[in-house]
Amino acid sequence: MSMQVERWERYFLYAGVAILVAFFIAILASIGEAGIHLPTDEAQVDPNVVASQPPFDNPGVFETGDNQYEAVMVARMWQWVPEEIVVPAGAEVTFTITSPDVIHGFLVNNTAINAMVIPGQVTRVTQTFAEAGEYKFLCHEFCGLANEQVGHHSMFGRVVVE
Ligand code: CUA
Repeated sequence: MSMQVERWERYFLYAGVAILVAFFIAILASIGEAGIHLPTDEAQVDPNVVASQPPFDNPGVFETGDNQYEAVMVARMWQWVPEEIVVPAGAEVTFTITSPDVIHGFLVNNTAINAMVIPGQVTRVTQTFAEAGEYKFLCHEFCGLANEQVGHHSMFGRVVVE
C-alpha cells in the first residue's frame, strides 16, 4: 500500500517537474520567438508636476517620422487629455500617457491596446491604424478617490483615423 502511494507520488513529481520545464520553455519561447514581453517601466514622472512636465505639459498628437505619430496624453479624473486623436490611415501611433491622480486604464476598441496608466509611471503603447475609421477608447479602471468614482463612466474618447 505504502509503496503504491510512493510510486504515484513519484509520478506526480515527475509530471510536475515536466510541466514546470514545459512552461519555462514556453515562456522563453514567447520572449525569444514571439517577442512577447510584459510592459516595463518606460519612464517615471512626478505625478504632482505632470501639468508642467514635458511632454505632458503639452498633450496632443505629434508627427515623429514617416507616418509615425506620438500621442501624448494625460489620464485624469475623469477625462482624457486630449479626448480626440486624429491621424491618417496607416499611421503608427505611440501613445505616451501618465496620470496625475489615480490609476486609470487605457483600452482602445478593435486594437490590442489594453494598458494601465499609473501615477508616477509613463505608459507607452504603439499601434498601427491600417484602416480609416473611429476607434473609441475608454478607461477600464474604476477610478476615483475612496467612494467618489462618479465620473469613471464618462472617461472616454476616440482615435479618428482619416
Ligand atoms: Cu479613469 Cu476610470
